[in-house]
Amino acid sequence: MSHKAYPTDDPAVVTCGLPYANGDLHIGHLRTYVGGDVFTRALRTLGQETAFVCGSDFHGTPIAVQATEEDTDPEELAMEYHERYQETFPQFDVDFDNYGHTHEGTNRELTHDIVESLEADGYIREDEILVAWDPQESQPLPDRYVQGTCPYCGEQARGDECDDGCGRHLEPGEIEDPVSNISGNPAEYRERTHKFFTVSELADYLSSFLDRLEGTANARNQPRQWIEEGLEDWCITRDLDWGFDYPDEDELVLYVWVDAPIEYIASTKQYTERVGASTYDYEEVWQEDGEIVHFIGRDIIQHHTIFWPAMLRVAGYSEPRAVVASGFMSLDGDAFSTSRNRAVWASEYLDEGFHPDLLRYYLTTVGGFQDDIDFSWERFRERVNGELVGNVGNFAYRSLLFAYNNWGGTPDADLSEEVETRIRSALEEFRAAINNDYSTRKATEAGVELAGYGNRYIQNNEPWHLIREDEAEAAQVIRDCIQLVKAVSILLSPTLSGKSEQLWAQLGETGSVHDTGLDDALETPPAAFDEPGELFEKVEDDRVDELNEKLQERINSMADTDHNESDETDEATDAVEPLSQERISHETFSKLDLRVAEIRSAEPIEGADKLLRLSVDIGVEERQIVAGIRQLHDIDDLPGTTVVVAVNMEKAKLFGVESNGMVLAAGEEADLLTTHSNSPLGTKIR
Ligand code: MF3
Ligand code: ZN
Repeated sequence: MSHKAYPTDDPAVVTCGLPYANGDLHIGHLRTYVGGDVFTRALRTLGQETAFVCGSDFHGTPIAVQATEEDTDPEELAMEYHERYQETFPQFDVDFDNYGHTHEGTNRELTHDIVESLEADGYIREDEILVAWDPQESQPLPDRYVQGTCPYCGEQARGDECDDGCGRHLEPGEIEDPVSNISGNPAEYRERTHKFFTVSELADYLSSFLDRLEGTANARNQPRQWIEEGLEDWCITRDLDWGFDYPDEDELVLYVWVDAPIEYIASTKQYTERVGASTYDYEEVWQEDGEIVHFIGRDIIQHHTIFWPAMLRVAGYSEPRAVVASGFMSLDGDAFSTSRNRAVWASEYLDEGFHPDLLRYYLTTVGGFQDDIDFSWERFRERVNGELVGNVGNFAYRSLLFAYNNWGGTPDADLSEEVETRIRSALEEFRAAINNDYSTRKATEAGVELAGYGNRYIQNNEPWHLIREDEAEAAQVIRDCIQLVKAVSILLSPTLSGKSEQLWAQLGETGSVHDTGLDDALETPPAAFDEPGELFEKVEDDRVDELNEKLQERINSMADTDHNESDETDEATDAVEPLSQERISHETFSKLDLRVAEIRSAEPIEGADKLLRLSVDIGVEERQIVAGIRQLHDIDDLPGTTVVVAVNMEKAKLFGVESNGMVLAAGEEADLLTTHSNSPLGTKIR
């Protein structure tokens, strides 16, 4: 791996977290896969040789438990969903170069090789541990066969992961008050012998790895804390029938999290086997200097920044260059819930007749990749109608149509300096977004904002009047506009994979926009093209009402449970502070300089159990601010949060730490103020 700017001389591989093959995909699942696909296309637009791989995760208790529930065999169950995923991803233009699964021979061989080299290098030890046991069924209860209380945060958790609380991976035997998911009875503990990977010996290596790691801040910062708290060795075997056997052991299978990430390598290998090593060599990536980029959900950061790089290191593979971890996604303000049918299913979205690009655009731009985002049909309509129809589509259509009607294509004139400079700066923004921030959102915005510029440009120059007075000048303006359309089509090609291709064809260009590099944006567009059509259709208000109704009906028919919150609400209303009677002038208010900002990092302050030291980006600079929100927010959730900051407060010192500004929050709970849309950092609040 290098840390050179993309494109580098070495091949890259982009991977997405492998979906467990145990259920239907909803649009929340698609966030990571669309993210990886858009990023891959963006790298290729920059000229980076890139493979995009993934596969289904077949093993582990998520599959075994589900198979028991559906009264089927785990392999059969996984294969069924695997085949569905293979169809679903391409329908959203998530085009993996290889999509395998973890139960295949390629993965089995690689997994055994890697585990054997961990053993050979002395990184495996055996230990007797207490594992959960169902006395009634008289069987062990690994991972998701058991639930109980998280020993770290006290929340209700699954045997393998504190999914609703602190997000930690839980080792066998760690969960407190275990209850069997098979019989519902309290579980006992039994002593068993298991294999451990001595990750604790790799703490120094992992710290230095994190210093080099690129990607989102959550993935780079969160694991530091785990290392500081002291790494535990990692149990890599389970008492289970389903999975790959531990080499030369009859009773133990490998923990799913060993063979799952190895599928990243196996899937890349299968790709090489298909296209030939002269086209793409997986060994160059995984064993030499290639660029490895992982797109994942933030719940599996620990696996990708601790366990996985530790395995790669000992087994002599290359280390990942970047981990890009997404925030969570909610639906109309509440969590997606597969079991309660509270979801918009991937297939359902397509059945409604919506183009996949609309969802790709929404998922990419509604928030930063590591932010928590929400989906609602309302906001979907707003974004499609406002930005895609009103801005991008409108600009392309009016420019192409005017050119077609008057010149049958691009008029013969020179590109103006002003427009050329503006296009160059958009290309630069795109490059910087990918290279500096791994931000597909910012890369997309470079294209959308260029279209906005185009709309203002055509509006101000009024070619429809000019053409009657001075045809040459009108030709000049339209030549500029067509160049802008061409640049927009290239800049948006990663996100709007289908629509950009359509626009490319409308421009009279041949070949695919996906084979086009960023620098082609300044090549002269074709002199002749056909009559253009509109790229996007509006989403009508009554469509939104209808879709909301459908969703609501479904949720209501499933749920009608846990609704005891009304008491709490009443209490909160009683407690509202009386409104202030003292009026202030606009002038007084305007002295307060409030800005949109984003928390970059958050850390505790020694001795102060309520305070956090925040580093906050206010657009023009980063500020250190001390805020009394420690007990009310999960530190790990704060980086990436948009907040409102009073930037001209007098400086203060708290516990010896200087605070340069104030983060606004509501009430006792210190509910952080944020913005509704996505105003750039530093935007003034009036
Ligand atoms: N199947 C796992 C999950 O959904 C992710 C596996 S990602 C990999 O949480 F790294 F193991 F490949
Ligand atoms: Zn926890």
